[in-house]
Amino acid sequence: MVSGGRSREERWSLAGATALVTGGSKGIGHAIVEELAGFGARVHTCSRNAAELQECRRRWEEMGLQVTVSVCDVSVRADREELMATVGATFGGKLDVLVNNAGQTLFKPAAESTGEDYARIMATNLESCFHLSQLAHPLLLGASVAGGGSVVHVSSIAGFIGLPALAVYSMTKGALNQLTRSLATEWAGDGIRVNCVAPGGVKTEISTDMTIDPELVKNEMARLPMGRIAEPEEVASMVAFLCMPTASYMTGQVICIDGGRTIS
Ligand SMILES: NC(=O)c1ccc[n+]([C@@H]2O[C@H](COP(=O)([O-])OP(=O)(O)OC[C@H]3O[C@@H](n4cnc5c(N)ncnc54)[C@H](OP(=O)(O)O)[C@@H]3O)[C@@H](O)[C@H]2O)c1
Repeated sequence: MVSGGRSREERWSLAGATALVTGGSKGIGHAIVEELAGFGARVHTCSRNAAELQECRRRWEEMGLQVTVSVCDVSVRADREELMATVGATFGGKLDVLVNNAGQTLFKPAAESTGEDYARIMATNLESCFHLSQLAHPLLLGASVAGGGSVVHVSSIAGFIGLPALAVYSMTKGALNQLTRSLATEWAGDGIRVNCVAPGGVKTEISTDMTIDPELVKNEMARLPMGRIAEPEEVASMVAFLCMPTASYMTGQVICIDGGRTIS
């Protein structure tokens, strides 16, 4: 579905759209929920913490945003199936936008990473995105926004460049970048666009993780042209753009939001 011939207001809007954003209780996911809902979408989000989710939902209601929540551990197959059943029931069997955002880091030298570390990070950051995309596919086929259904993955610049003590995490993000291109080609004929945002450092709980080597942070800041890390909203705005009718000819792209880190 093309967005041409529509007014600017219609192209830069998510009015009437429905969206699932994983990991919306904090950080980047929280900002994405507010951005999509602020542009008029009805949003469902999840995390593992029921109390935190309810507190978020209450605040969003006060802000006039239409957001529903449910508990889901995205690393667990049965939880993912239950989440998509809830989303299908909430939005009448249709979905316009899936944002695969939930993820965890592992700052550990490769030689010390255990089998459990590997399995947890792979299940949380990668398998979840593949399976949730599969589960969302029939709902996305019924998308009604101009520009068609849309999937956005949240990967990382760690999927492009080598960083010490981040091998397992970076493997999941590199694979997510490739999943973006593979699904984009496979689903273009279904009217579903698949894109990805790859942030550099963003001010969230992940970037304040006390297991990060301070030396790595110092070196990274020295190589960063813009000299600061991002606010979560600076990632959310690109996610919203990718889901809008105005991005109707964009698919298969991985967009770095990194203050220039990967071009310097
Ligand atoms: N912050 C950065 O510098 C940065 C840079 C590049 C990429 N990213 C990526 O951006 C995404 C979001 O990161 P963030 O920095 O916003 O992290 P964050 O502040 O720690 O928030 C992560 C969100 O995901 C949820 N989550 C984590 N594990 C989950 C699971 N197994 N099932 C369901 N929900 C889960 C968390 O809630 P619960 O823990 O309560 O479940 C929370 O809502 C991740 O994919 C991350 O890799 C972040």
